[in-house]
Amino acid sequence: MYRPIIKTLWWEDGRLYIIDQRYLPEREKIVELKNIRDVWSSIRNLSIRGAPAIGCVAAYGIALSALKTNIQDREKFIQVITRDINYIKTSRPTAYNLFFALSRMEKVLKERKNITVEELKQRLVKEAEDIYREDIKCCYMIGINGATLIKDGMNILTHCNAGGLATSGYGTALSVFFIAKKQGKRIHIFVDETRPVLQGARLTTWELKKAGIPYTLICDNMAGYLMKQGGIDMVITGADRIARNGDTANKIGTYSLAVLAKYHGIDLYIAAPHSTFDLSIRDGREIPVEERDGDEVRRIKGHLISPVDAPVYNPAFDITPVNLIKGFITENGIINKPVISGK
Ligand code: MRU
Repeated sequence: MYRPIIKTLWWEDGRLYIIDQRYLPEREKIVELKNIRDVWSSIRNLSIRGAPAIGCVAAYGIALSALKTNIQDREKFIQVITRDINYIKTSRPTAYNLFFALSRMEKVLKERKNITVEELKQRLVKEAEDIYREDIKCCYMIGINGATLIKDGMNILTHCNAGGLATSGYGTALSVFFIAKKQGKRIHIFVDETRPVLQGARLTTWELKKAGIPYTLICDNMAGYLMKQGGIDMVITGADRIARNGDTANKIGTYSLAVLAKYHGIDLYIAAPHSTFDLSIRDGREIPVEERDGDEVRRIKGHLISPVDAPVYNPAFDITPVNLIKGFITENGIINKPVISGK
């Protein structure tokens, strides 16, 4: 029932594999991540991306480095693995799932002080597998819960890629579409191309096509006109981090969509598992927003589209205030109002 449609990342006989998403949709290139540096770079360079998938690959990365070391001394082993956990934390700052997964791996190290290095290694592998399996289940339940909002014939807009490629399972926003389709609902998805890195155009279209869900690709700046024409019934996106009051970080452009949706009286839902909710921070002002290399804006798939030295501002995410969000689709149900008071 929970079997992923796409194998985005997987662990086999102590080896870690991913689909390198930089090559999609042209090529399904599978690569093995052989060490902790490979894991760090694959997250940083977007070979693997999407908040839950980043968390899962990070956890497996720690399991990998635990299995690879020959250190026998328990204290030394804990020291080295803790160093690797802190290293992976520096790969990308915004997606909370990364820190959620790594803090679970850290907890295994801290709680198991009286077991051998060999046992500790097995516990770390098991924790990574638990994180992976839980994500698959969460995705499925997000789909089941979210599908209750979907009516036959709806046109839904999504941004970036919150599908199987962004998780270990069905995805978050896309899981809602996959389950609605399985239930026999006829839906049509508008896909924002999602500049600068084009996760919508390259990845979401690829997944929807595979699933046989009708879709139309639009440039990001077309959403407002489409809404004005009555072409959109609902907006559903994923999230990278949700603060305690419900303010939500997601791919750059989500805030603009939310403002447009509010103006046109269209509901915007955020689909996300518990691992994306950061209850330690009060509101969106505390969410660290990643700024990426200017060449992502100056170039499209390597091809220069501006002066080579054009000054660029390239935040990878924006923060949508909770008052623009109709509700949160989670594995435990739909939260229709902001989570907890911001105080
Ligand atoms: O920079 P990315 O591609 O990692 O950004 C991904 C997003 O913003 C997704 O919408 C989010 O991680 C949710 S994925 C289920």
